[in-house]
Amino acid sequence: MPTSPASACRETEGGPAALPADGYRPVLHYTANKTWLNDPNGLVWHQGRYHLYYQNNPFGNVWGNMSWGHATSTDLVHWTEHPVAIACDEDEDVFSGSIVVDHGNTSGFGTADQPALVAVYTSAFKQRSPRAGTQAQSLAFSSDGGMSWTKYADNPVLDRGSADFRDPKVFRYHGVSGSYWVMVAVEARHQQVLLYRSDDLKSWEHLSTFGPANAAGAEWECPDLFPLAVDGVPENVKWVLVVNLNPGAVAGGSGGQYFVGDFDGVEFIADPDCLVPAGADGDVDLTRCLWLDWGRDYYAAVSFSNVPEDRRIMIGWMNNWDYANSLPTSPWRASMSLARDVVLETVSGAPRLIQRPVLPANVPDPGTVMRDVDIHDSSRRLAEAVPGAAQLIEAEILPGTARTIDFRLLSAPGATAATVLSFDAVEGRLVLDRRDSGNTAFHDSFASVESAPVELDDGALRIRIVIDQCSVEAFAQDGRVVLSDLVFPLPGSRSAELHVAGGTATVRKLTVTSVS
Ligand code: FRU
Repeated sequence: MPTSPASACRETEGGPAALPADGYRPVLHYTANKTWLNDPNGLVWHQGRYHLYYQNNPFGNVWGNMSWGHATSTDLVHWTEHPVAIACDEDEDVFSGSIVVDHGNTSGFGTADQPALVAVYTSAFKQRSPRAGTQAQSLAFSSDGGMSWTKYADNPVLDRGSADFRDPKVFRYHGVSGSYWVMVAVEARHQQVLLYRSDDLKSWEHLSTFGPANAAGAEWECPDLFPLAVDGVPENVKWVLVVNLNPGAVAGGSGGQYFVGDFDGVEFIADPDCLVPAGADGDVDLTRCLWLDWGRDYYAAVSFSNVPEDRRIMIGWMNNWDYANSLPTSPWRASMSLARDVVLETVSGAPRLIQRPVLPANVPDPGTVMRDVDIHDSSRRLAEAVPGAAQLIEAEILPGTARTIDFRLLSAPGATAATVLSFDAVEGRLVLDRRDSGNTAFHDSFASVESAPVELDDGALRIRIVIDQCSVEAFAQDGRVVLSDLVFPLPGSRSAELHVAGGTATVRKLTVTSVS
């Protein structure tokens, strides 16, 4: 029987009272209509549609009653919400996990002609369950293309009796060691990724364990492991192990790190140049780890399965556990990031992740706003954001003798409040400052400044900035460095300005486009 969204697990209602109107709802980022969401789950492409399941509270807009919400899209930008897919019940919350298309019907849940979609999720057992307080991996399956789901009667399928064993990401491994399912999941408080194998998705055998390594100050969550051809060369495949962690990320609170290495079907071995040894004090220099995003709001990022042509696409939760339950939005709370196409490219001799935002297919032609303009210690007004649309700013700038190049975003004419994205040419850093971005008072830890090291290419800064009502995502140097933050600007804050200080910079090209 398909699980019913109305299962009785209602424990929390809405969030803090007296929230302001719904003005912050983004245009290009997925939000649940009226409820809370956190991690993306079960990302899968199937029969022409992308499915985005996600941690959802069907009964409120703070964390609780964890179930899998569901939305679909054909372009990864415009999403349609569907009823709750896999609901919590009296015995369990349905925590994060993944979905595979069981092409060979290895599980027996489908048929050879009509393979089932199989969800592998974490059962977080509640007080009523004999397994209360533990987390174990369970299955649900769908025979109608992901619209309705049945929990497997013999759940859980993998139980270590642990309180923190969760977030299974499953993929099909074909390689030197054979062909079988591989699961990566975390033992969160031990900062370990555990790898398992299975032939039928029901019975699992431990393969190996990775970690702790690099940023390991707190809980490891939501891992992912996938192969990519370096620089697109099929003979040079490397594996990327993604490990989200909370707290303890480079910008504070939640964030995602990754390792590049090799996987032989049994063990993941990180390349030595990815590993940061602890200093004499036992601490790891977080700035030397590899980060998916240097901002505060890209967490629980994982990739889609089953996407044609080996395309690897990731989505993260655009949020941070530091303040997630307090965001000043209503009735919805929290959004996903933009989807990102990820590839491995050689950067300074080593393979590194390059991330590019997925934008609507038909972005209108902006015409060139500026071309070959020298700006000496002064400001230029850029086009205002259009209400109801997101704004895309793309620029190639030679900093020249300038000390800083600031994009002052989401400001109101004459007001000082703005979100400031700067390139600090002296330090070689991209800096995102949201201390005076508007409403920051809803949580003590929200007002903050984040930064990332950026090396210029032939003296040029190339940047793509996506501004969507309550967020700024900056992709520098064609996606080598990403910096993303939420912001909650004051009403009517739509103006943008480019400000050059300390010398002369040359804007080779700058365009501003409205996107919806
Ligand atoms: C990450 C996380 C996961 C867990 C889920 C519960 O944000 O804590 O580890 O499965 O959220 O909602």
